[in-house]
Amino acid sequence: MKTWISITFVCVLVLSLFSGCSTTAKSEDQTITMRLAHNQSETHPVHKSLVEFARLVDKKTNGTVKIKLYPNGQLGSEREVIELTQTGAVDFAKVSASALESFSPVYSLFSLPYLFDSRDQFYKVMNSSIAQDIYKTTTDVGFRGLTFYDAGTRNFYTKNKAIMKPEDLKGLKIRVQPSATSIKMIELMGGSPTPMSFGEVYTALQQGVIDGTENNETALTDNNHGQVAKQYSYSEHTIVPDILIMNNKKWDKLSNKQKKAITEAAKESTAFHKVEWEKAIDKATKEAKAKMNVTFNKPDKEPFKKAVEPLHKEFAKKKATSRYYKEIRAEATGD
Ligand code: GCU
Repeated sequence: MKTWISITFVCVLVLSLFSGCSTTAKSEDQTITMRLAHNQSETHPVHKSLVEFARLVDKKTNGTVKIKLYPNGQLGSEREVIELTQTGAVDFAKVSASALESFSPVYSLFSLPYLFDSRDQFYKVMNSSIAQDIYKTTTDVGFRGLTFYDAGTRNFYTKNKAIMKPEDLKGLKIRVQPSATSIKMIELMGGSPTPMSFGEVYTALQQGVIDGTENNETALTDNNHGQVAKQYSYSEHTIVPDILIMNNKKWDKLSNKQKKAITEAAKESTAFHKVEWEKAIDKATKEAKAKMNVTFNKPDKEPFKKAVEPLHKEFAKKKATSRYYKEIRAEATGD
């Protein structure tokens, strides 16, 4: 897999050097071709929303900015594509906010369980100036956030055990995203956290390296996790957005008109995605039930919330997160 990724990436670089594709031109007379990497398949709703983003950018820039998509983790794991976006080897990447935690500590807030009490609260915050401020926190490390995409609520699923209360996680190896906050969450709930990148999860489940994991419903069908994991339990512990990031130097080289076009296209693709996402979750749930025999459970969320209270106290206090923690909670609850 690694060799394949390296070969693909070297080919992409060599091709772009010789094809005259340049991401450095400022002039709107030239066509700029940019690369966008992400780790989902072409049938996943977020891929469709990124195709829509590319279409809108093309249209709004009168064809002067073209975006080529590299799905399926072809260019690497989320951490790797963030690093490529930092250097400018890749222009855009769509990654989970959890993966951004090690690049800007503020992003760790999105992995804080029960930060939002509902999807409405999540949208309220993500559509506010707070999100815009957070997107700027990585400009000094080479990239900026442009917009977010709904990635649903994250819920526990295991091979054959329903997770109805935190104690049910005891003794279970639960895969989490490589994020310190997600690791702490599982520890507080009583399970054994196993961080790994998304592309490794299916095999890890199948081979018993992990007992379970946590994600939205599309992972069951689009990533085939439902072939192995048969109990899906709605703990709804996090609502972690996907974030579209862009290399900062490439951004600075664009004309004002192109910047405006990209900003508008990003916003419009988020609205497009909201509708697609609702349909996709409905479809994935029906398919997982009917074709994969997955059982969906509805645990009481209160004991899970109680278990992670120390993490809320920590986030409200520590310097890196306290301002945003308070702002997000105030915006979310309307206080
Ligand atoms: C979601 C998210 C991905 C992420 C994955 C994960 O599916 O959209 O960007 O990689 O979770 O659990 O790693």
